Amino acid sequence: MGNNKFRDKVVLITGASKGIGRTTAFILANKGAKIVLTGRDEKALYDVQSRIVNQGGNAVSFIGDITDWKTCKKLVQFSVDHYNDLNIVINNAGVSMRGNFSNLEFEVIDKVYRTNLIGATYISAIALPFLRKSKGSLVFVSSIAGIRGLPYNSIYCASKMGLRGLAESVRIEEYQNDIHVGLIYVGITQIDKGKTTIGANGNHIPLKDRSSRNIMSQEEVAHAIIKNIQNRKFISTLSSLGKLNLIVQKFIPKLSEFLLIQNTNKIIINGR
Ligand SMILES: NC(=O)c1ccc[n+]([C@@H]2O[C@H](COP(=O)([O-])OP(=O)(O)OC[C@H]3O[C@@H](n4cnc5c(N)ncnc54)[C@H](OP(=O)(O)O)[C@@H]3O)[C@@H](O)[C@H]2O)c1
Repeated sequence: MGNNKFRDKVVLITGASKGIGRTTAFILANKGAKIVLTGRDEKALYDVQSRIVNQGGNAVSFIGDITDWKTCKKLVQFSVDHYNDLNIVINNAGVSMRGNFSNLEFEVIDKVYRTNLIGATYISAIALPFLRKSKGSLVFVSSIAGIRGLPYNSIYCASKMGLRGLAESVRIEEYQNDIHVGLIYVGITQIDKGKTTIGANGNHIPLKDRSSRNIMSQEEVAHAIIKNIQNRKFISTLSSLGKLNLIVQKFIPKLSEFLLIQNTNKIIINGR
């Protein structure tokens, strides 16, 4: 198996212009996969595509916003038309937010749900018939914030938790069709320079640098996503904080609530 598992496989990656999605695209292209890159930032997307192609890999770009159903239809059709197949869909595109629930503007609520949950739902529904044919993989990139609701991250947590419900349902429904459904709980990960999060009134809040050694790199996360697909695993929980969060939430949920209440101020201050 090894690298050959991905050779000539057609992989659609949302949010491939930046961060984890871009790194996953590079690694999969290096393993011989044919990549459909998607995002809204045309320049960033073509940069990723040129890097892959210049290194002898295979990639095409589709510029579009996944919050729009018609765009998602065109995206999936573009992938199938271009490569004549669709084997793997990685729902990675996402946006985060910060702010007290009571202060959130409609646009913030709408944007976070539409990007993280609705967009992933649209693409998955549209791609499903093709994944049935290929007995492929449908992967959702969630977050450890999707295990337990965190203060000042309400819509982000809710959108990422929603992916769990979707993944569980589709996994069972598609069991007979041999579709692999994977869900990745990503922990705090290094970010691209200049990355922002969305504040309660829609403002862009710059995120602090995360180059500390305790934080997972984008490469580590990308490899974990790829391993999930390779092993056709359901849930992969990344980072020690993520694993601890999962255990505490399952066995002593009152403890996690207590710790969150005690540390709410720190979460507000260090949340970036
Ligand atoms: N980094 C972390 O610490 C962390 C932790 C837990 C979970 N995660 C999850 O991992 C995923 C990737 O995170 P990241 O840190 O790599 O994020 P990132 O660097 O901000 O990249 C996000 C990607 O999503 C795309 N995107 C956003 N809105 C879109 C839309 N409406 N339509 C199409 N594409 C859209 C962006 O592309 P354009 O700008 O080109 O549209 C970009 O390529 C996200 O789902 C995130 O929630 C990240």
